[in-house]
Amino acid sequence: MFEMMILGIESSCDETAVAVLKDGIHVLSSKIASQLSHARYGGVIPEIAAREHLESIVPLYDSALEEAKISSKDIDAIAVTQGPGLMGALLVGTSFAKGLAKSLQKPLIPVNHVHAHIHGAILGLPENLRETLYPSLALVVSGGHTHVYVMKNPVDFELIASSIDDACGECFDKVAKLLHLPYPGGPAIEALARKGNAKSLVMPRMMEQKDRMEFSYSGLKTHVRYLLEKEKDTLTSERIQDICAAFQKEAFEQILRKVQHALSIYTNTRSILVSGGVAANQYFRSLLTEHIPIPSYFPNLKYCSDNAAMIAALGYHMYKNSSDTKVFYNDTWETYSRYEDVKV
Ligand code: KG4
Ligand code: ZN
Repeated sequence: MFEMMILGIESSCDETAVAVLKDGIHVLSSKIASQLSHARYGGVIPEIAAREHLESIVPLYDSALEEAKISSKDIDAIAVTQGPGLMGALLVGTSFAKGLAKSLQKPLIPVNHVHAHIHGAILGLPENLRETLYPSLALVVSGGHTHVYVMKNPVDFELIASSIDDACGECFDKVAKLLHLPYPGGPAIEALARKGNAKSLVMPRMMEQKDRMEFSYSGLKTHVRYLLEKEKDTLTSERIQDICAAFQKEAFEQILRKVQHALSIYTNTRSILVSGGVAANQYFRSLLTEHIPIPSYFPNLKYCSDNAAMIAALGYHMYKNSSDTKVFYNDTWETYSRYEDVKV
């Protein structure tokens, strides 16, 4: 049995997080400090984020160890978010992790944040289920990404689709802003949509061409913008609920269409893994569960948005699957701010 106590560190955006995992699956602690100061600006301010990470990281590390009831000498390896993310924010986590790994003389595993989100959906699945997942179609639907991967095993990520413009969560945030709803906008739109009738108006269908494995969200946002301008003198709260419901329906049906198309190509797929902040949406969960013939798995709500348990979980598999673990004693790698596989 491969036993390992692994520390995860996350600081890519506006959440500082530290977690302790045993054997890549048992979460002994998962501490998150969310930065609330960005709300008043309607988005994350990179410089403020970096400063707040600096203040939070050491107390968070102490409390994660305390809750896991371990001391630093019990740590077998450290996994840290290498990218993508805000450069100043990432540097706080990676510098702390590099210093810690050197002083403890333990391996340091650089983890891709977007890939790690998928492990948020795997965490919590019973052992016998985890063995039946692959090949899997894995979705990361967040404020920054609308990505679909084919995964043959826990560390193999083949990107097969992404957005050509806005990410799905970003579109929710922008439409919420048009409606003067608080940031982040996803939960507020979902709540209004629940009271509305999605069928009372028609939204344009984005990326209708079935064989284009790409997403697009900026046209949908622009459509809502012109609709709100046109109706501004007559808008009622019921009409806003209907608009939210119709918008939400099309935002997620676009994903459903693309997943259905991907399944017609990757016919040996055994599961759908859905992750990222948008995976918290209950309508989205029901839509996929109802229309996809193979099992869809979603993260526990606490592992939908940014956390360090998912970083430690992927780090564990990277270590376990590595043919030469000596590479994890080399800390000369650099952080990266943009997702490496996507042309920008
Ligand atoms: O994964 P995440 O916490 O952060 C990154 O972007 O990495 O995702 C945040 C995104 C935001 O755009 C937020 O509006 C969206 O997830 N979101 C939702 C819901 N909860 C969060 N979107 C739709 N419905 C929700 N219930
Ligand atoms: Zn994230």
